[in-house]
Amino acid sequence: MSNTSSRLADARARIDELDEQIIAILAERMSVCASIAETKSDEGIPMMQPNRVDEVRERYVALGTERGLSQEFAKAVHACITREACRLEDEILGNTPKSQIIAIDHVAVAVPDLEAAVTELVEKYGMTVIERRSVDGKHSGMTSATLRANQATFVVCQGTSPASNVSQYVANRGPGIQHVALSVADHEAHQADLRKAGAELLTGIIHAPGLDQSFTRRSSTTGLQLEFVSRSEEHTGFEDDSVRELFESMERENVW
Ligand SMILES: [Fe+2]
Repeated sequence: MSNTSSRLADARARIDELDEQIIAILAERMSVCASIAETKSDEGIPMMQPNRVDEVRERYVALGTERGLSQEFAKAVHACITREACRLEDEILGNTPKSQIIAIDHVAVAVPDLEAAVTELVEKYGMTVIERRSVDGKHSGMTSATLRANQATFVVCQGTSPASNVSQYVANRGPGIQHVALSVADHEAHQADLRKAGAELLTGIIHAPGLDQSFTRRSSTTGLQLEFVSRSEEHTGFEDDSVRELFESMERENVW
């Protein structure tokens, strides 16, 4: 065996050893989680303690940084372990899986006259315009305004031509709710749950810095198209590329 191949064989053997240790440590970690779940169950303590989850995530990032791991990797490892710990706790406590949905992020409204809609929401309901945007897809476009009043956010959209999916929505249903966006805790896990449950997904997760979005098709049962959003703490608005990607997905599939 050459020196190089002997060094590679040694390194691979070392990786195998380390992987065994990682699996052994993860198994021990999960057994500690299981005993915590049993204690919580005995004492009637609620399972989710968000402050504790945040504290542990920060600790992962700090420990990872000390050892030269990227923050993204440390966060991803933490998210993966937390997801399994939650699943294990649910199993022990006999809970049905928890929804990842946290709250309404925004409501998108399709209208034939953006300025009239903005005027009404500002003058009659005290909302404030926080963002304006124009999006051009391959064949058509839309203009929109984001309005906010405290925790309530509306995105009002008008198509720029009859071919726009926003214009088609208005032509077919009249002005109204084009989609409802819900914030979710763990977007990847949520998508996996949706796929398992047979939800009709229009897009996968559309990634942008600090903002992940995904969309269902409009349900013929509820009339709702749902968006799911997860944001970093600092990110409160929207991203041009993500809005365009959704718009083009809807154009491509000819849905409105
Ligand atoms: Fe949206």
